[in-house]
Amino acid sequence: MSDPMVQISLQIDGKETTVPAGTTVLKAAQQMGVTIPTLCHHPKLEDYGGCRLCLVEVESRGRTNYVVSCLYPVEKGLVVRTRSEKVDKVRRLIIEELMARAPDAPELVRLAYEYGADRNRFEKEASFCVLCGLCVRYCDEVKQKRAVGFIENGHVREISFIPEIAAKECWDCQECFALCPTSYAQAAYFLTEALAFPSRRKKEGAERKRMAGIPAVPVTFVKRPPASEPEMAR
Ligand code: SF4
Ligand code: FES
Repeated sequence: MSDPMVQISLQIDGKETTVPAGTTVLKAAQQMGVTIPTLCHHPKLEDYGGCRLCLVEVESRGRTNYVVSCLYPVEKGLVVRTRSEKVDKVRRLIIEELMARAPDAPELVRLAYEYGADRNRFEKEASFCVLCGLCVRYCDEVKQKRAVGFIENGHVREISFIPEIAAKECWDCQECFALCPTSYAQAAYFLTEALAFPSRRKKEGAERKRMAGIPAVPVTFVKRPPASEPEMAR
């Protein structure tokens, strides 16, 4: 366990900085105003290291390594390069892999442009979920509900809402939708709702109408009388 009272000096992109021990390289860079791309990082959540986009080059005691900056703690005398030929190359590859799953995710489209990534390099899986885990971790760590979780492993790994919990907890929350970089969390929730508890939306709709003073009368369709035959032009 690092002692946050101990200050660590390091260099990031040629500039010196000093931060408390235990700070991650990503956080130290952010505090200096240096931008490192991230997809699975959220300041309210435990770091996870899922997307690997935050990869940087670090040099320590004469050795160079490539590490995910959101998990890597600062070290005395560490030299960090957030952009280099190799960092950009690996990051471009990661963007291309992620785009096979979610080719239209706005942040990935922006990064693809910045890094010159080819969105069609890998065969499309079109699962639309990049497995960043933001929805899962937010629901667990912040909301403490665990209404959504990962299921399966490997290439079939995906997120899934747990109907029994989602039916009770998600209706008034839905905070994970805004965190999802691909909108898949929202789609997955609506699918769960449609399959597992569709009556909730109907009931809520009727209640909203009642509150708005709209009478809950069934809509009746009045049959229009047949239009009179137009007089034939002579
Ligand atoms: S649904 Fe969205 S937030 Fe959840 S893991 Fe997939 S991409 Fe991330
Ligand atoms: S932000 Fe570091 S691995 Fe995703």
